[in-house]
Amino acid sequence: MITLGIETSCDETSCSIVSEGRVLSNEISSSVHLHSVYGGVVPEIASRYHVDYISSVYRKALEKSGVKQEEIDLVSVTSGPGLPGSLIVGISFAKSLAAALDIPVLGVSHLTGHILSGFIGKQSFVEKLDSLKYTALVVSGGHTSIYSCEGDSFFEVVGQTVDDAVGEAFDKAAKVMELGYPGGPVIEKKASLYDGDKIIEFPKAKLDRKYDLDFSFSGLKTALLYYWRDQADVSKEIKPMVSYSFQKAAVEVIAIKVLRALEKTSSELVVVGGGVIKNKVLKAALENITSDKNVKMIFPTDDLAGDNAAMIAFAGERIYKKGARSDLHLKASPSLIR
Ligand code: KG4
Ligand code: ZN
Repeated sequence: MITLGIETSCDETSCSIVSEGRVLSNEISSSVHLHSVYGGVVPEIASRYHVDYISSVYRKALEKSGVKQEEIDLVSVTSGPGLPGSLIVGISFAKSLAAALDIPVLGVSHLTGHILSGFIGKQSFVEKLDSLKYTALVVSGGHTSIYSCEGDSFFEVVGQTVDDAVGEAFDKAAKVMELGYPGGPVIEKKASLYDGDKIIEFPKAKLDRKYDLDFSFSGLKTALLYYWRDQADVSKEIKPMVSYSFQKAAVEVIAIKVLRALEKTSSELVVVGGGVIKNKVLKAALENITSDKNVKMIFPTDDLAGDNAAMIAFAGERIYKKGARSDLHLKASPSLIR
C-alpha cells in the first residue's frame, strides 16, 4: 500500500510518501522565516504560503520517493487540530487529488501523528505496535499532553496543560527577550552558553499535588516577563542566564510529570513527540529519569519531531487498514482534541 501524507496545520507545508510503514520521502517547506519578525505565527501568512507551495512540495515528495502519482492508494491529511485557514489548504488539496485519482481520502489527527511519530523507522516496535501499551508525551507549540496509550488508536489523556503549551512558552519568552522566533531553538542555544552559578528560581507550577499530571506554563512565562521588565540592565549578557533558568524550570516540570505518569500507568515504554523534543536538555532529563526505572524511552528523529507529513501518512495508513474512513465531505476540525 502506498500512502500520501499531507500536513498543513500550522507553518510547515509537508508532503510524504509512506509505504507499509516505511518513509520513502518526507518533504517539508516552512514559512517560519516569514513569521519571525512578528514573534509568532501569523495565520494569514501561513495559509498563503501553503497555497503557494503545496503543489511543488507534493511534486518533490513524489520525485524523491520514486513513486508515480497513479500508484498512490490513499491520501492521508491532517484534519485538525490547527489553524483553520491552514488546515483548509491541505484538506482541499487532498480531496482534489483523491477525486482526480479516484482513491480514498482520510482525515487524521495531528496529535495521533505526533504520538506515533516516535515509532517511525523503529521496526521492532512497529511490528508489535498493535498490542503495545505505553505512555506518550507530546510537547509542541500547541500541545503539552501525556497519554496512556494502547496500540495506534487508543489514547487516553492523563495530563495536559491548563493554559500555554511548553513550546508556546518558549516562543513567548524569546519574544520578550527579543531573541526571534521560533523561541525554543534560540533559548536552547543561549542557555548552552551559560556557565555561571546564578540561577533565577522561576516558578514550577502544579507540583504540589502528587497525582496532578496537568501542566501550567503561563506563570513561568509571566514570571520571565516581570523579571525582564524589572531589570535595569537587560543587556545581552543576562540572556544566557535567563534562558538557562527558564529552560531548567520548564524541563524539570516535564520530567517530574512524566515520572508521575509512569508511576500511575506502570508503563515500560514512553514515546515522545512534538517540536520541543528537539531540545537536547529535555531529552537528556527524560532519558535520565527512565534509565534507572527499567523503562524504555523512544524519540523521533528531528525531522519527524516537528510538524511533518510522514507522521500523518504513517498514522493514516495504519488506521485506514483498521477501517477508519472519511470522504469528500471531510472538513477541517481546528479544535480536535485527540
Ligand atoms: O511540533 P511543532 O513543530 O509544531 C506544533 O505542532 O506546534 O513544534 C513547534 C514548537 C515551537 O514552539 C518551537 O519553539 C518548539 O517547538 N521547539 C523547541 C525546540 N525546537 C523547536 N522548543 C525547545 N527547544 C528546542 N530545541
Ligand atoms: Zn505539531
